[in-house]
Amino acid sequence: MTLSLNVLFVASEAVPLAKTGGLGDMVGACASALRRAGMKVTVMLPGYPDAIAQLQHTHTVCEWTDLPGGRARLLSGRMGAQGIPVLLFDAPALFARPGNPYLDDHGEPYEDNALRFAAFSQAAARVAGGVPGVHRADIVQAHDWHAGLVPLFVKRAQVPVKTVFTVHNLAFQGNFPMHVVPDIGVPPDAAHEAEFWGQFSFLKAGLLWADRITTVSHAYAREILSEAAGCGMQDLLRARQQDLVAILNGIDNDVWNPSKDPLLPQPFVASNLSGKQTAKRVLQQRFGLPEDPKAPLLAVGSRLTHQKMADVTLQALPQLLESNPQLQVAVLGCGEHAYETGMAELAARYPRQVAAKIGYTEAYAHLLHAGADILLHGSRFEPCGLTPLYSMRYGTVPIASRVGGLMDTITDHGSPEAALHGATGFLFDGDTADAMVAAVERALHVFAQPQAWRILQYNGMTTDFGWSQPAREYIALYRNLVPAATPMPAVALAQTPAATDALHTPRPEQPVRTPARRRSTALSDEIRAHAVARAASAEKIRA
Ligand code: ADP
Ligand code: GLC
Repeated sequence: MTLSLNVLFVASEAVPLAKTGGLGDMVGACASALRRAGMKVTVMLPGYPDAIAQLQHTHTVCEWTDLPGGRARLLSGRMGAQGIPVLLFDAPALFARPGNPYLDDHGEPYEDNALRFAAFSQAAARVAGGVPGVHRADIVQAHDWHAGLVPLFVKRAQVPVKTVFTVHNLAFQGNFPMHVVPDIGVPPDAAHEAEFWGQFSFLKAGLLWADRITTVSHAYAREILSEAAGCGMQDLLRARQQDLVAILNGIDNDVWNPSKDPLLPQPFVASNLSGKQTAKRVLQQRFGLPEDPKAPLLAVGSRLTHQKMADVTLQALPQLLESNPQLQVAVLGCGEHAYETGMAELAARYPRQVAAKIGYTEAYAHLLHAGADILLHGSRFEPCGLTPLYSMRYGTVPIASRVGGLMDTITDHGSPEAALHGATGFLFDGDTADAMVAAVERALHVFAQPQAWRILQYNGMTTDFGWSQPAREYIALYRNLVPAATPMPAVALAQTPAATDALHTPRPEQPVRTPARRRSTALSDEIRAHAVARAASAEKIRA
């Protein structure tokens, strides 16, 4: 009944081939979910050496000599357990560089980033139009500024394909001096239109020429229309509000699933957290913290950047550590040098309370989410924020800023919504250390009440953050753009109110929608009763 569409994802990252943050998680998991839902999704990435090395069933599709940046090949292959089709743009002069996709050895953006990602985007536009051995796409979904020129190149080449541009983070804009324009294949009139404060902006190009713009949470979609969060693009976004659609990210329930996670010492489920206690012990061992099952163990696990309020976290923690001598803090992350040093210094100052691993591995990230009690996740802005979703899935209660996707996904303990849906965490306003300290103190107060804490954990673990619903919403959006396609069965649409919304054109109410991910009240009540009972018996056993 469902007619499959050919969807080409164009991005600079996708797990498992390339990841520096949530973008890679989202692209890989969303592609996988859409394929499960019947779409023919292919992911196109730059040919980083690591990605080429990991590609399975590799073969060369074609070669190009006329793209900016020199000779290039298009490689085809598969990735991951699901065997997702992948195309790699193998342009050695641009991408045969080990390490970070965007930064050189000194942590500086590569000088030729405009050329690298323009050539990549131009190649993607050609692929969208069909190259020998690769079907023409019905939809091209370009992610973030690195693929921002795809809609422009598609339009200029008159490729009969619809384009979606997904904003994962409006703060990263790909703005370059105007003098790069003649070298990157962008026509002067288009460069003029995509000019942003005297620079040429890849992000602005994406926002201008895509048929639809999506972003990754409802609250962020509202926020970016304002001066405060619009990063200078708010007027353009307002002008395109009819085409702006919010689809909340999901998480990959196969990768982030405590009941079958091979990276954990012992699996666990919402109704039995003994494996979580084991994970806590192992986490304490690996991080060199005292093995204490009762000590509240707070995790900081994100990029150490200004966006993630690493500066505020560094101000807040000493106060919290002094007033809560039992508190333990495990830091996993890397980012700006000053914050990395700050975390290392904190660990040196409080060796029995703080441990910092500067760097990132998936294995440690999974152990951190499983073994910690609390995740501290400040954000000055947060388009979606996958990390707290992972933590909730693993029974680690998030304390986060009341911004963007964090608002859509975390129900604050003590809020009116908590009475309806059940609380899953703690939210705080602003970016002061005082506000962060107060939120952590609030959480510690509840942590000291095992039954109440157990309910928070249970609520988070049993909320459906999976990709099924967002995948339906993307499919509804695609079908809206390619109306010739057979509509989905009415029953499927009826089950997805948000997806049905996306079919209405125009959508004057867009992007204001209610958060998508909620447990039903009935289920929540049942869970609560169950959790209370279990927590009570667990307490008896411990006593
Ligand atoms: P963002 O993409 O803004 O960093 P998200 O919370 O959406 O935020 O996604 C973060 C993802 O990146 C998670 O999978 C997390 O485990 C991972 N991550 C966190 N810190 C790092 C790091 N220093 N390097 C690479 N990945 C990281
Ligand atoms: C970006 C955002 C983050 C989001 C991720 C995936 O990196 O900063 O909030 O979760 O993209 O969409």
